[in-house]
Amino acid sequence: MKKIITIDGPSGAGKGTLTQLVADKLGWHILDSGALYRILGVATEQAGIDLSVDFLSETSKNTITDTITETITELARHLDVEFQLNPDSGEVEPFLKGVNLAKQIRTDEAGQSASKVAAIPSVRDALLARQRDFDQAPGLVADGRDMGTVVFCDAPVKIFLTASAECRAKRRYQQLINKGVGANMRALLESIQARDERDRTRSVAPLIPAVDAFVVDSSDLTIDQVLAQVIDFTSEKLPEILLE
Ligand code: C5P
Repeated sequence: MKKIITIDGPSGAGKGTLTQLVADKLGWHILDSGALYRILGVATEQAGIDLSVDFLSETSKNTITDTITETITELARHLDVEFQLNPDSGEVEPFLKGVNLAKQIRTDEAGQSASKVAAIPSVRDALLARQRDFDQAPGLVADGRDMGTVVFCDAPVKIFLTASAECRAKRRYQQLINKGVGANMRALLESIQARDERDRTRSVAPLIPAVDAFVVDSSDLTIDQVLAQVIDFTSEKLPEILLE
């Protein structure tokens, strides 16, 4: 039996925190697949491609679009990215060509860029093997949009964590305010809705729960309540794991 737990869902549902807590509890590895797409977004901008233009929309489909998608796919194939544990924060940080991008990839713009490059089918293919390489002993908790439906479709435990767009925007607003960063609630909500729409309606690996996923709506739950539900579900599916 594979030792993989997949945690999929829309942005801001709390997947990152849940993934970290479950991995800490089990002593397993983490795959933050969104970070890969975010880094690719940064690499694409660094290569001089302007991702604020909606180059994938029907009206802009032409040979320039083809050239752009080919260039981004090549970048994905050769993405010089490495993840390293920061011993001070205990967090795994991404490096692109040796440069730490931990802060840069967490901006809202980086999220929007990520969801644009992530909608290109050949880009997703190019990143597939790299993601599957994270499946290593003692086990893996994989966070993303298509972990349970595409990348690890044979995972024994699949979670789909969701929350209303309003609730996710409120949480993001609070995070930014706590960090001392200015934030606009309406802009955050619009940004979340735009990313949801792009992620849910794309032609490849759209954001949908796997048929065998345990769906948790975290809108009215604390993270501890979510964790308890996920651990209960995991111990039903993999009783031997939690007893180890
Ligand atoms: O999870 P995170 O918000 O960091 O992901 C950023 C974007 O990357 C998502 O909005 C989504 O478009 C894309 N993504 C994806 N497939 C994944 C993980 C992320 O398409 N497995």
